[in-house]
Amino acid sequence: MSKRVLITGGAGFIGSHLGDLLLSKGYTVKAYDNLEPQVHGENASRPGYLNSEIELIVGDVRDAELFAETMRTADILVHFAAAVGVGQSMYEITRYTSINTMGAAVVLEEITKQKDHIEKMLVASSMSIYGEGLYICPACGEVTPKLRSAEQLASRKWDMLCPVCARPCVPAPTPETKPLYPTSVYAINKRDHEELFLSIGDAYNIPTTAMRFFNAYGDRQALSNPYTGVGAIFASRLLNGKPPVVFEDGGQSRDFIHVRDIARGCLLAIESERSSGEVFNLGTGRKLSIMEAGKAIARELGRPVDNFLVNNQYRAGDIRHCYADISRAEKLLGFKASTSFEDGVRELCNWVASQTSSDMVDHATAELSERGLAK
Ligand code: UD1
Repeated sequence: MSKRVLITGGAGFIGSHLGDLLLSKGYTVKAYDNLEPQVHGENASRPGYLNSEIELIVGDVRDAELFAETMRTADILVHFAAAVGVGQSMYEITRYTSINTMGAAVVLEEITKQKDHIEKMLVASSMSIYGEGLYICPACGEVTPKLRSAEQLASRKWDMLCPVCARPCVPAPTPETKPLYPTSVYAINKRDHEELFLSIGDAYNIPTTAMRFFNAYGDRQALSNPYTGVGAIFASRLLNGKPPVVFEDGGQSRDFIHVRDIARGCLLAIESERSSGEVFNLGTGRKLSIMEAGKAIARELGRPVDNFLVNNQYRAGDIRHCYADISRAEKLLGFKASTSFEDGVRELCNWVASQTSSDMVDHATAELSERGLAK
């Protein structure tokens, strides 16, 4: 009989792609998802992109009874369900902590009662738990700074300074061993996910792995969600004839990884015997500035590459740079991202062009500004 995987958040952006991949490898897949209105729209029904072979159970991860019943017929748990807006998590603190941290607690408590038939657990963590990435200072060597100070940001000096000698320092690939400095409620919730899953997995002898996703992009990323990733936001603004809004000076960078590469990394972790008890970065190992990413998207859409609204503001808790050291995933899982940003952006833009989306970014930025979270 084929192995049965339950994916919480399985109707979402990353979960549905992993579902497709698992089906193609002969697994049976069930999605457990609350079809969150902010992501799927009001009164949403089953998303059209969700593979027809995936059974969808609509439910909340905090509904212990429904989760337990659904899990009873699965061998493998993939826990992706989460509220994911970093900025929004800074004012909807109870909602985020309830869905994310309490949700994981409810799920794990049920798992402990069913441990005998569960072969593997995989949980989605996030690069956001690092806070700032690793940097190299020309004088001090490797440094792990915390967030830039309020005074520094107020004076619009965006680049990271060495926490020891205050010289400018440059970003370096961030390994899993970097100390964690989560800077948002969302990031704290994600660290909770990771630690809760790994400790319960260890205590109950269930092989468990946490995946630290870097900035995932690709089709099915919720476009009407104002708190979605920057790639989808830029593409939908450009298609709506509006200039993308760039925070800071656009020189901040991220590691953009295509969602299909994320799915592949997760499959490798599910199948590998060397992944138990481990955390893995899932990125490309390549950093790209927000401005470069925006220009690539504009170029692909045939829009001007210099019509960006660089607003010289910053979002509270935003980091300047973080990109993945991918050597652990490479060594233990044999993982390497294979979709180039150029190819991925082409696909993203084709998909965004086929969607109708209301652009909610101005609304989201106003909400952050009102609360002093974007200045
Ligand atoms: C993102 C995800 C987070 C995930 C993490 C790692 C979102 C909303 N956040 O966080 O869930 O855990 O990656 O995968 O998907 N920016 C602009 N203009 C905009 C929007 C953003 O300039 O309109 C800038 C931001 O200031 C930031 C950068 O783009 O510097 C990236 O922002 P975002 O896409 O929100 O991602 P992260 O905060 O890195």
